[in-house]
Order: sequence, then structure tokens, then C-alpha cells
Amino acid sequence: MKCSYFSLTLFLFSLFFLSSINGQDLIYNTCKTSSQQDPNVKFQFCTTSLQAAPASHCADLKGLGMMSIRLTRYNLTDTRCYIKRLLKNNTKILDPYVKSCLVDCFELYSDAISDIKDAMKSYNSKQFFDANVRISSVMDATTTCEDGFKQKRGVVSLLTKRNDATFQLSAITLSIMNILQNSLK
Ligand SMILES: *[C@@H]1O[C@H](CO)[C@@H](O)[C@H](O)[C@H]1NC(C)=O
Ligand SMILES: *[C@@H]1O[C@H](CO)[C@@H](O)[C@H](O)[C@H]1NC(C)=O
Repeated sequence: MKCSYFSLTLFLFSLFFLSSINGQDLIYNTCKTSSQQDPNVKFQFCTTSLQAAPASHCADLKGLGMMSIRLTRYNLTDTRCYIKRLLKNNTKILDPYVKSCLVDCFELYSDAISDIKDAMKSYNSKQFFDANVRISSVMDATTTCEDGFKQKRGVVSLLTKRNDATFQLSAITLSIMNILQNSLK
């Protein structure tokens, strides 16, 4: 009796241990692939982001993809809100050129939010091609926003870090979808 209870506990423990190791490996491998496929994705950023997502250690690859879409969506919503506050707080002191860039970025981020929502739906119904198109336009939005600031000499983008984070998260999602599609073939 005692013995079988013990082996059951041991069994459950090793199961838990193994699955958590697998989760770690999956994140590690996914980030490795993603950073190799896209030089803009930093391995460290990828593992830190995915590991911080709730329950990511128990997720399979499809689940990990959904998590990175969600992270992208939070990023977009947060940045859109940030731009709104920047515009509101600093109307008087903002350089007119910087202000016009922020207004453009606000538009771009608004569109990107509806793109990521559509991407989520497509992803859930395994329509990876559609999801890919939407996520690519999210990436375009972040680069267009960033490039706006660079058009004028001496202007510094107020959103570099945020644009970069969203770009990287999107690239991670694209690479996960790539792996998923290849495994379906
Ligand atoms: C964007 O996502 C990354 C990864 O989850 C996170 O580290 C960062 O704080 C987020 N930034 C914003 C502005 O939400
Ligand atoms: C805007 O102002 C509010 C209240 O003064 C402050 O809490 C917030 O940090 C400011 N946001 C930005 C982006 O400057």
C-alpha cells in the first residue's frame, strides 16, 4: 500500500518534472529558431517574454503561438494608450513635427489592434495564411511609425523601444506559425 502510494507520487512527480522540462525546451528551441530566422529577434528577449507568459511552460507550440499573439496585443494596446497620454499631456511643449509623428503612430497602432484581433481569430481556426498577413501588417505599422520620426534630422523617436518590442513579438509569432505549417505538411 505504502509502496504503491510512494511510486504513484514518484510517477506524478517525474511527470510534472518532465513536462516542465519539455516546456522549457520548447521555449528555448522556438526562440533559437526564431532568432536564427529573423536577425531582429533577440534570443534573450524571446525567452524572457515567453517564459513570463502565464502557463507557457505547459503549452505546446500552438499554445505558445497564441501566447505571443496575446503579448503582441497587450503591447499594442499599451502603446496606443501611451501615445494618447503623450499627446494629451504635452500638447504645448511637443515639437509640431514630433506631434504629427505621434498622431500618425496613433492611427497605425489603432489599425494594428484590429489586425491583431483578426489574426487571433484566424490563428484559432488554423488559417495561418490570413494570420500571417495580419501580423505582417502589424510589423509594418511599427516600422512605419518608427521611420516617421527618422524622416527629419535631429528628431528622436519617443517610441523606439516599444516599436521594437512589438516588432520582435510579431516576428516570433510568424516564426512559430512557420514551424506549425511545416509540421502539418
Ligand atoms: C511588450 O512586451 C514585452 C514582452 O512581453 C514586455 O517585456 C514589454 O514590457 C511590453 N511593452 C509594453 C509597452 O507593453
Ligand atoms: C500624463 O500625465 C499623468 C498625470 O499627470 C501622468 O500620471 C502620466 O505619467 C503622464 N503620462 C505621460 C505619458 O507623460
